[in-house]
Amino acid sequence: MSNEVVIEAWNTVLFEKFSRFKFLFIEGYASISEEVLGRNSFAEDAKVLDVGCGFGDCTIEIAKRLGSEGQAVGVDCATNFIAECEKSASEEGVSNARFFAADV
Ligand SMILES: C[S@@+](CC[C@H](N)C(=O)[O-])C[C@H]1O[C@@H](n2cnc3c(N)ncnc32)[C@H](O)[C@@H]1O
Repeated sequence: MSNEVVIEAWNTVLFEKFSRFKFLFIEGYASISEEVLGRNSFAEDAKVLDVGCGFGDCTIEIAKRLGSEGQAVGVDCATNFIAECEKSASEEGVSNARFFAADV
């Protein structure tokens, strides 16, 4: 079974809508992510995979909580989201987060 249609939707109409309301998804829900992340401490050298990472805000937040030996990896089926993730990580100077596109 192919996910082509779904991936196309996440890369186009859904990407556009999520981008329009990005402030809501990121700032509006940040307190929920913070609550969850605050309950789970990762080992300094942990390798953490964020599946369906979207804009990568959680991946980046996890990376910041890891030591320099740790790594947070975000995967998303939409290359448009991955491009945004890489841009954000670079702008925030986070070097232990990386991203790749794949249909999980
Ligand atoms: C509702 S968004 C959630 C984004 C992020 N995890 C968050 O909480 O803000 C779902 C994400 O999963 C991705 N996704 C959907 N189906 C996927 C698949 N088969 N493989 C990988 N990523 C997928 C979408 O592109 C989208 O970025």
